[in-house]
Amino acid sequence: MAAQIIDGKKISSEIKDELKEKVRILKEEKGIEVTLAVILVGEDPASQVYVRNKKRACEYIGIRSLSYELPEDTTQEELLKLIDELNNRKDVDGILVQMPVPEQIDEKTVIDAISPAKDVDGFHPMSVGALCIGERGFVSCTPAGVIQLLKRSNIEISGKECVIVGRSNIVGKPMSMLMLRENATVTVAHSRTADLKAVCKRADIVIAAVGKPKMITADYLKEGATVIDVGINRNPETGKLCGDVDYDGAVNVAGAITPVPGGVGPMTIAMLMNNCYEAALMHNGL
Ligand code: GUN
Repeated sequence: MAAQIIDGKKISSEIKDELKEKVRILKEEKGIEVTLAVILVGEDPASQVYVRNKKRACEYIGIRSLSYELPEDTTQEELLKLIDELNNRKDVDGILVQMPVPEQIDEKTVIDAISPAKDVDGFHPMSVGALCIGERGFVSCTPAGVIQLLKRSNIEISGKECVIVGRSNIVGKPMSMLMLRENATVTVAHSRTADLKAVCKRADIVIAAVGKPKMITADYLKEGATVIDVGINRNPETGKLCGDVDYDGAVNVAGAITPVPGGVGPMTIAMLMNNCYEAALMHNGL
């Protein structure tokens, strides 16, 4: 049977439209405006694109965005001072520092400086800890987006064998916690996993987040498995975007699969917007 193609563009649009309505109601009925502060240090072209897309999504949904574009030679002290000001502003719900930051600034110090109450990226150790022990907190946007893709595609998670390939702090680790929360049986595989193919082959759901173009081929997959591809790579041969999964082969074996682009990618910003909305609710005691 042909695989179900999971349309991340469509699902993310639905989420953004739902949020647009919720943000409108919050404004009209309670007079509350959701606000995200976006900080970009330096002129990295990829970061500029990401930041522009985030601001555009805010505009579409009706979230107010405050933009701070700081020069490449900004000191850590200057950045920390700005974060401190934004932490203390009652009219700011979420704070996002686009990564990577220039080398004179320590990324971890920056993440730790953002108030956990405004940590809409879900990168703060408090947010990560809350996720681990099942308390309320912000969840890293990409893994949260994967859960939404699965749920909105009616893919059963509870009781299923899930193999996550990759153990990064931003995707692999939080992804494992979220799948566990959904009652999957979770395996986290990585570069030192002895027989990756055999491990993947037993999975009902494979989530690939390794950053290696087309590494997961059809022979890694069980017939009918759900395949979620978090990778965004440049195909070394064609220069086009491709995932960690060899889509053209995998689509013939998988029961459901996400394309790249148009799968997980568009979900990240939608979940960021959702975190901003949730932050505003929390800050207003709702
Ligand atoms: N750089 C690449 N991805 C991200 C992200 O999700 N959040 C932030 N703040 N920076 C990033």
